[in-house]
Amino acid sequence: MDKIVILDYGSQYNEILLTKLRELGVYSLIVPKTTTASKIKELKDVKGVILSGGPSIIGEEVKNAPDSKLFDEEILNLNVPVLGICYGMELLAHHFGAKVTSVKDREFDKHVIRLSNSCPLFFNLRDEIVVYITKSDRISDIPSSVQIVAESSSLGPVAFAKDYVYGVMRHPEVDGSEEGRELLSNFIDICGCKKEWSLENFLENKINEIKEEVKDEKVILGLSGGIDSTVAALILHKAIGDNLTCLFVETGLHRVNEASVILNRFREKSKIQLDVADEGELFLNRLKGVVDPEEKRKVIVDTFIEVFKKYAKKIGDFKYLGQGTLYTDIKESKWGGKSKVISGTAEDIGFKIIEPIKELTKAEVRELGRKLGLDEAFIKRQPFPFPGLAIRIIGEVTLLKLEILREANEILSQEVRKNHLETELYQYFCVLTNIDSTGVEGNNKIYYHTIAIRAVTSNNGINADFYKFDMNFLERVSRRIVNEVRGVNRVVYDITAKPPSTIEYQ
Ligand code: XMP
Repeated sequence: MDKIVILDYGSQYNEILLTKLRELGVYSLIVPKTTTASKIKELKDVKGVILSGGPSIIGEEVKNAPDSKLFDEEILNLNVPVLGICYGMELLAHHFGAKVTSVKDREFDKHVIRLSNSCPLFFNLRDEIVVYITKSDRISDIPSSVQIVAESSSLGPVAFAKDYVYGVMRHPEVDGSEEGRELLSNFIDICGCKKEWSLENFLENKINEIKEEVKDEKVILGLSGGIDSTVAALILHKAIGDNLTCLFVETGLHRVNEASVILNRFREKSKIQLDVADEGELFLNRLKGVVDPEEKRKVIVDTFIEVFKKYAKKIGDFKYLGQGTLYTDIKESKWGGKSKVISGTAEDIGFKIIEPIKELTKAEVRELGRKLGLDEAFIKRQPFPFPGLAIRIIGEVTLLKLEILREANEILSQEVRKNHLETELYQYFCVLTNIDSTGVEGNNKIYYHTIAIRAVTSNNGINADFYKFDMNFLERVSRRIVNEVRGVNRVVYDITAKPPSTIEYQ
């Protein structure tokens, strides 16, 4: 299948870029920035290369290591069009001998740019458009062999072309950046890519692939209740029917009624065999005395694997373990980032692994979920971390603290639902802090817990902003929590964005 390869220089928008190219019908994939031209060739049918944006500053890189190569220049000899975006553009400009000057104050802002529509990248685009550009390094002294094809009065040259190599300072993949989709579509045309990718084709091919691999063997899949494992289960079920069994591990770290809602919905919506490992007590015992957040995660993962192994042995003879690993999870774990908690552990359990959605991004899994008949409320459900409420309790996890947190969280959820705010919020939850503070109850002073409310807006969890609730809403939630939840006498609202804070507290 024809494809476009994205070299990853660390831009937070790379997954959006990947999804946009695929939406335009072209299979694309992200590879590490160190990938050489010969490795790209091995990927077969590569019709174009994109050098992505990224946080590095060319000037500093050159100063620190003047002799090191910033990219494999042989990529320009692959005889396929190359597009550099933002940092990728600067890399190419530097390679062609232009001057790249650092600007310390990096702001992502709107700029008006004028385009030369003789450049095929801008074919059918308006002459003047408004785009988002990171005010980063400036490009000047561009050699005459390189054609400047877009300029802005505030930034100077913002795009260039040299034969089949293009550089644009803007991020065409970012929503709200005018004509970004058209620019990507033009690049696809320049590459001469056949548009062979669609989720329908993907599904059909994946089902055949699984049938061929698994044959009559049995597969077990850990169902978490989230969209990834659910979509993975639905695809596997289409391929192998009753040879698939799902196992839900009740860790006791879920929110009010969460486990039963997950199980009932799954049983209603599918005919997939489902077993439940009810092991809340075991998880709580293992978490006794554990305070460090990473240690909590490790205890939960280890216990999960132990429980999974035990039940899998009990309920059948499984050769394969199905997992809802996403493209991002694989990319992050292979390239040294934070991996999805249970992926990478499958071999330890002694199964062969099967990952039906490992080529897909989160946005694509949601879209596929819709095509497979999942309802919108489920698809838009807020993310819930694998370690569950354990990382929303600062300090040791106890049954009492879990109950306090569940009750407080349920009040927040009820009020959010009542005020129809679910669709505006990416995530909202309570955290049981380890601050005990003074309160009054009758004539007595009491030292009770403090609940923090966290509610954020975000597109993908990478950046997030705190939600500006109406004060009356916060007052009502606070009043209800201190009145209705025994053990809480103070409620605070978290008003920090990510970055610098993370969404979760641990
Ligand atoms: P942070 O807290 O890093 O979270 O801003 C970003 C997103 O990831 C979720 N999250 C986790 N999910 N296991 C998970 O499965 C984890 O250990 C974990 N930690 C954070 C978090 O809920 C948010 O959606």
